[in-house]
Amino acid sequence: MEQIKVGVVGLGAIGERLIQGFTANENTTVVAVVDTDINRASQMAEKLGGINWYENHLDLINKEKLDLVYVAVPPKYHHKITVDVIEKGINVLCEKPLANSVVEAKHMLDKAEEAGIIHAMNFPLNYSASANMFEKLFKSGYIGKLRRIELNMKFPQWPRAWQQNEWVAGREQGGFVLEVGVHFIQLTQRIFGSILHQHTKLELPEDPTKCETGIIATLQLSDGTPLIINGISQIAGEERIEYVAYGSEGTLSLVNWARLEGGKLGEEIQPLETEIDETQNLISNLVDAIAGKESKLYDFKAGYDAQVILEKVRNESE
Ligand SMILES: NC(=O)c1ccc[n+]([C@@H]2O[C@H](COP(=O)([O-])OP(=O)(O)OC[C@H]3O[C@@H](n4cnc5c(N)ncnc54)[C@H](O)[C@@H]3O)[C@@H](O)[C@H]2O)c1
Repeated sequence: MEQIKVGVVGLGAIGERLIQGFTANENTTVVAVVDTDINRASQMAEKLGGINWYENHLDLINKEKLDLVYVAVPPKYHHKITVDVIEKGINVLCEKPLANSVVEAKHMLDKAEEAGIIHAMNFPLNYSASANMFEKLFKSGYIGKLRRIELNMKFPQWPRAWQQNEWVAGREQGGFVLEVGVHFIQLTQRIFGSILHQHTKLELPEDPTKCETGIIATLQLSDGTPLIINGISQIAGEERIEYVAYGSEGTLSLVNWARLEGGKLGEEIQPLETEIDETQNLISNLVDAIAGKESKLYDFKAGYDAQVILEKVRNESE
């Protein structure tokens, strides 16, 4: 199979992580990189064997022959860069959240659909063995009838040590509701269907440029099942992100992204086995999609649907 030529825009923590994935996949090659930080761009280009690097994404899409562009810049730049890529007719993988507003997200979805390109989101929980087993067990009746879903997020420090960036700490395009919450909003929509937002109470610092330090939000599934989002940062103790489904016959939880736990009524909560399928990752599915084969991608529609709820959740209710 011919190599899929990838251009990467944004070489921060996550951009680097996916570059490793593209390098590890025998069908993809990163042929050029872009970052407004030219030291980062030139160093990464060097590390990848002296490939081309640019300071501006327009140079990338105008000068390189590409099959895919991966957009891994902070959220408020997703829209501009992604739309430019789509207008060039190039397939695009965009980081979450899709955009920095619902209006931008809708525009990106419409443009991608009109252009007929492959458009995908990086929502890694979709390829996680634990999250997939969570869904499988739920659908096989492990917890009986669903009574309530909770997302509990506790961060001793936000931004976390590995993501010390101004924007992650800011209200405009950061905060843990946006950075972490959106993964679980999308997962909920995937497993349980549409969500309705009811109410959000935020704890906000006095500095209007800084992101939330607390949230209590209530939402519901289409059948009225409650979904509660409870988050707090700058606290004592350890980081814990827990996504729990309570049912009439038991409980299932995803703890700290990858740990699946559960128990039936009257039992203790135990770690549960998952089934790892190494071939099922985002990049192998992108390769299949670009080769015209059947694939499992979460596209801009999934990104848009999650954005609609995200924007309601991260804004204080009237
Ligand atoms: N899918 C996931 O699990 C996951 C995890 C963390 C972050 N993210 C998302 O990935 C994106 C990047 O996050 P990060 O933590 O790597 O951020 P980061 O700040 O570490 O890196 C972003 C990089 O983009 C560069 N950049 C900024 N504006 C640019 C522009 N206009 N053109 C080119 N380069 C530009 C910056 O110089 C920086 O090197 C965000 O959207 C974030 O929400 C996703």
